[in-house]
Amino acid sequence: MINFSTIRYKNFLSTGNAFTEIQLNRSSSTLILGENGAGKSTLLDAITFALFNKPFRNISKPQLINTINRKKMVVEVEFTIGSKSYLVRRGSQPSIFDIEISGELIDQNASIRDYQKYLEESILKLNYKSFTQIVILGSASFTPFMQLTPNIRREIIEDILDIRIFTTMKEVLKTRMTDLKGKLSEIETELTITKEKANIQKKYIETLETDKQEKVDKIIDEINSTESIISTLLSQVDLDNKVKESYGDIESKRKRLESFKLDFTRKIKEQKKELLFYADHDDCPTCKQGIPHEFKEEITEEKENKITELESASTKLQSEWDSLDKTYDEFISLQQKIVDTNNTIMSTQTHLQRLVLEKTETENKVGDIEKETDKLKEIAKVLVSKTGDKTKLKEDQEYHNIAESLLKDSGIKTKIIRQYLPLINKLVNKYLKSMDFFVQFDLDETFKEEIKSRHRDKFSYASFSEGEKQRIDLALVFTWRTIAKMKNSASTNLLLLDEVFDSSLDVNGTDYVMQLLNTIGEETNVFVISHKSDQLFDKFRNVIRFEKKNNYSVMS
Ligand SMILES: Nc1ncnc2c1ncn2[C@@H]1O[C@H](COP(=O)(O)OP(=O)(O)OP(=O)(O)O)[C@@H](O)[C@H]1O
Ligand SMILES: [Mg+2]
Repeated sequence: MINFSTIRYKNFLSTGNAFTEIQLNRSSSTLILGENGAGKSTLLDAITFALFNKPFRNISKPQLINTINRKKMVVEVEFTIGSKSYLVRRGSQPSIFDIEISGELIDQNASIRDYQKYLEESILKLNYKSFTQIVILGSASFTPFMQLTPNIRREIIEDILDIRIFTTMKEVLKTRMTDLKGKLSEIETELTITKEKANIQKKYIETLETDKQEKVDKIIDEINSTESIISTLLSQVDLDNKVKESYGDIESKRKRLESFKLDFTRKIKEQKKELLFYADHDDCPTCKQGIPHEFKEEITEEKENKITELESASTKLQSEWDSLDKTYDEFISLQQKIVDTNNTIMSTQTHLQRLVLEKTETENKVGDIEKETDKLKEIAKVLVSKTGDKTKLKEDQEYHNIAESLLKDSGIKTKIIRQYLPLINKLVNKYLKSMDFFVQFDLDETFKEEIKSRHRDKFSYASFSEGEKQRIDLALVFTWRTIAKMKNSASTNLLLLDEVFDSSLDVNGTDYVMQLLNTIGEETNVFVISHKSDQLFDKFRNVIRFEKKNNYSVMS
């Protein structure tokens, strides 16, 4: 509960350079009197300006500075919450905003970045709207609860029920969800890119493998054809060798024939020489005796026959030789062919060996593929880790969705509000009855009201007379204060009624409200601003008067 003790202000509106100081917790009821413009309502502006940097009447901050002095405007409000005492000091020319907790100034440059937010959310736990609905009633710039939109009604009730924390949580959650959504879409994009990368890498590796296989296949084809060439050549050599064998020992045959040939030639030559000798000689060169003619003829004939015989044999041998020579040429060329083929086989076998070696080398050449496969593994690792991140984010998103459904207006808050609505309605109707106003007031979950008259006709707030409206406004203020006290949330000792009694309340109404004020307890300090001095004077324990002296408002 906020227990206001003192307010003091100077150079504020019509107040001069001397502090006007009001004890706020001295008397349970205080009547504030004074003529128009005396400075009564100024109290309301001083309090809301000090706490919320916003005057109660609809004017700007510079308009608050006293127009005669034009500077050093200061408002100080003191209050306690629990065991801690607070002082909020605010001013203009020079600009001041201080919060003192138990005598110690809170450093504005320290961790609290938004000083005003700190004051409203961490100290007062009330904002301007809720504060004015609970503490102030009346005056020209005041908007009664019933004239506020359902959204603002909700805000005020949330403050009173101390459930604004859920709205704050919802706001925090919303930021987090937007964050999460952004992160998720980021990771989705990254995942798509990484998947694409992995596909490209896989295809590249496949290409490398296909290339390698194609190379190996090509070498195998060449090996096969080389082997078949070798086998053809081998069978050719086989065949040729067999043919060669069929020639038999042609070399020695040839040699033999040649020696025969030489033999014949030599023998013919000898016979011819002898024949020539007998033709040329009639005597024996040795014994010098004459060679008989018959002998000579006989021997010549013999020799000639021998020569003919030898020549015919030689001719035969020559034709045999000629025919052998031809075969021999064939034999030589066959032999050469076999040598050539064998040479070709040898070189082809060398080529085959080289191909086999090349095939093994190509098959074992995995360097590139291994390197690229390692790269693919790295991409896969990233993919796995990113998928993990995504799953985690998705999980977080699910939790956030659950939290969101709990925190939305129709969630926890509505449950709590639903619990309190019957009590709110009961209290409003109780206070209305105590002011002798018999209607049935009902606020629903959407914070819309239904008011039924005595005859059960449905009325809207606007249908009622000013005095009746004022009773409804008062009943609501009392209700909020009662619930705030129960919840120990937006509870405060201060209640300011500005001309509530003056405008529309009739004599009975005034009496009823006074009775009601007397029942709200000693710990409430009610300040009633009124012109009805004669009617109210003796009903209050304390009276303050304001007047204007030398153009400045002063308290007397
Ligand atoms: N910046 C200012 N400097 C000096 N005087 C100002 C300034 N702004 C407003 N005033 C005057 O200060 C006075 C404000 O008084 P306030 O509203 O508190 O009167 P009140 O006693 O509530 O009167 P009423 O009974 O008519 O409601 C008015 O006379 C107003 O003209
Ligand atoms: Mg006034």
